[in-house]
Amino acid sequence: MGLLKLGFQNQRLHFLRFIPQSFNVSTPTSFWVQNLNNTTQHSALSYTPRSKPVIAKALSTEAAAKVQPAKMVKAIRVHELGGPEVLKWEDVELGELKEGEIRIKNKAVGLNFIDIYFRKGVYKAATMPFTPGMEAVGEVIAVGPGLTGRKVGDIVAYAGIPMGAYAEEQILPADKVVPVPPSVDPIIAASIMLKGMTAQFLVRRCFKVESGHTVLVHAAAGGVGSLLCQWANALGATVIGTVSTKEKAAQAKEDGCHHVIIYKEEDFVSRVNEITSGKGVEVVYDSVGKDTFQGSLACLKPCGYMVSFGQSSGTPEPVPLPALGAKSLFLTRPSLMQYTSTRDELLKTAGEVFANIASGVLRARVNHKYPLSQAAQAHEDLENRRTSGSVVLLP
Ligand SMILES: NC(=O)c1ccc[n+]([C@@H]2O[C@H](COP(=O)([O-])OP(=O)(O)OC[C@H]3O[C@@H](n4cnc5c(N)ncnc54)[C@H](OP(=O)(O)O)[C@@H]3O)[C@@H](O)[C@H]2O)c1
Repeated sequence: MGLLKLGFQNQRLHFLRFIPQSFNVSTPTSFWVQNLNNTTQHSALSYTPRSKPVIAKALSTEAAAKVQPAKMVKAIRVHELGGPEVLKWEDVELGELKEGEIRIKNKAVGLNFIDIYFRKGVYKAATMPFTPGMEAVGEVIAVGPGLTGRKVGDIVAYAGIPMGAYAEEQILPADKVVPVPPSVDPIIAASIMLKGMTAQFLVRRCFKVESGHTVLVHAAAGGVGSLLCQWANALGATVIGTVSTKEKAAQAKEDGCHHVIIYKEEDFVSRVNEITSGKGVEVVYDSVGKDTFQGSLACLKPCGYMVSFGQSSGTPEPVPLPALGAKSLFLTRPSLMQYTSTRDELLKTAGEVFANIASGVLRARVNHKYPLSQAAQAHEDLENRRTSGSVVLLP
């Protein structure tokens, strides 16, 4: 036990010392790191804008030869908003590649709670029908005109917009993908791309967790929650996690929670009060929303940070400003999209996640795999709190 703990601490020190300052580390991740730096130096990172005559020339020769005709692939489609049953497995036509785009054959697709929000209409999809999914890892099988720095055979990952990952193949802007280091299995990569980058921005940028802090993480055994607890622990914080069952509590403990509260059985506000001797916590990472929001505010110490980053139980009630005044609290409702909006941010964020997976600071928990065609079952299980860790859909 002692040895395990020591090993983990060493990894943490390694991570703390090197990763935030620079990606030039001579660790097993150096290949990936070098890749990132190379990509960064090359203008727009993978897409090189050209003047019109050059584009015309490229189209008539090599690049045109790379463009493949439109083809049919299987994908999940949503024609009407509703329950998991609206997820239909259908043939869809992929358009032709445009400038700056790549076509990827997906190896694994990450399932995220946001997919449920879009399916139900909590968030509005830009088109109808639409293909859900915001996280995937695949192999590049075609490259559009005007692209350098991406080639057929590359294994790449993406998280976020454009939506459409629930498909055997998809077309993506090349500047939205990042290379997956060879040391990271594609299924693992698909399980931590969106969730791991979320954990990264939450503990390293939105509120910077430091040694000595006490943090409260709701849904600590969930996809994001599992990674958040591990990362906050690695940064030296005392981690309090909430979960719904004993099984999830055991997992949260393994993931670095010093205290686990089963919030279906215990009042988490009183328990946090006990654990912190009435002082409260520096930050609450609250993705549960409606059912926990008010209690989370009560758990904060003066000048604490309320980070409301999701609403798995429903949207919280609006907060009157005076409710924050009593303890001079900070309230933020952050989104991964804003924290990875530039190419540089995306590469750095993904780079830290992959480096921590490769060095063992973070452990990915791929606790559930479903065939992509059975996405409806996966949605039902996630929505009904039957999953823990990450859920991956396999095309
Ligand atoms: N803001 C961002 O950029 C961002 C990015 C990624 C994810 N998120 C948010 O982070 C949250 C976690 O996402 P995830 O994909 O990793 O899902 P997840 O945490 O694996 O699944 C949701 C978990 O929430 C808990 N929960 C509590 N009340 C619930 C209820 N009424 N219905 C369903 N679940 C409930 C359950 O854990 P227990 O059984 O232990 O209670 C459940 O397992 C979501 O709210 C998501 O929207 C936000």
